[in-house]
This record gives sequence, C-alpha cells and structure tokens, in this order.
Amino acid sequence: MESKRLALVSVGNALMDEQHRQLVEILERLLVLVNNTDDIGSIEHGQVELYGRAIKHFTDEELLMEIIAFPWLDDHKTAHHQFAGRLASLMARFQRGDLDFARQSLEGLHSWLLVHIKHDDKRYAAGLHCTEPVQPLSINHTDYAMP
Ligand SMILES: [Fe+2]
Ligand SMILES: [Fe+2]
Repeated sequence: MESKRLALVSVGNALMDEQHRQLVEILERLLVLVNNTDDIGSIEHGQVELYGRAIKHFTDEELLMEIIAFPWLDDHKTAHHQFAGRLASLMARFQRGDLDFARQSLEGLHSWLLVHIKHDDKRYAAGLHCTEPVQPLSINHTDYAMP
C-alpha cells in the first residue's frame, strides 16, 4: 500500500504533527498486516497500539483546544469519539474472527483520519499562538472504554 504520509498537513503544533504522523504510520502498518498476513497476534498487537495512541492523541488534542478556546470543541470531541468507537467495534469483531470486517473498517478509518487531520484538525491551527509542544498531559480514558 502506498503511504499517504506526505499528504499530511501541519496543524502548527509539533507534538500534534508528530502524533498524527505516528497514528497514520501505525494505521498503514496495520493495513499491510491485515491485507497480507494471517498473523493474528501481530494484528491484535497493532490494533491495541493504534487504540492507545489514538486515545492519547485525542486527549492531548482536546486539551490543546480547550487552552485556545477552540469554538468547535464539542463537535470535534464527537468526531474523536466516533473514531474510537469504530475502532473498538472493529477490535471486538476481529476477536470473533471477522477479518474481512477488520480489513474494510481499517480502510475506512485510514481515510477518515487523513480527512480529519486535513480539514477538522487544521481548523485549530489558526488559533495556536506558538508551535511549541504542549506539556505532557494526564489522560482520562473513561470516555473511551475498551471493548
Ligand atoms: Fe482531531
Ligand atoms: Fe488530530
């Protein structure tokens, strides 16, 4: 699968850009795995890694948005929640042996992520006053319970 990483836009914050790059990389690696192997253990490991990284990124990004008083924060949180829910659903069905669903769903999540970064995340770039990474944050996972 051809990498689309070069198409990633900067949102004007080094930490967010790096997290985006990592998320896309993990997702693309996972797509290669599900499309080319039956290595269930590696696929599961990749899913868990993607889920953890996604939750960490969403949490950091939402706090950054709160700091800059991003006016569309609630809608943005909803979008993040939908991604996490779709990924959790994918993982649950994969556990039941539905590899085809995992393949299709990961393709959809990959497209979603690229569009989300380019359009939705890019909207907060204008509100940033600097490009310094935000400080490490405490994470509240209660909104994103694992399946
Ligand atoms: Fe976002
Ligand atoms: Fe983001």
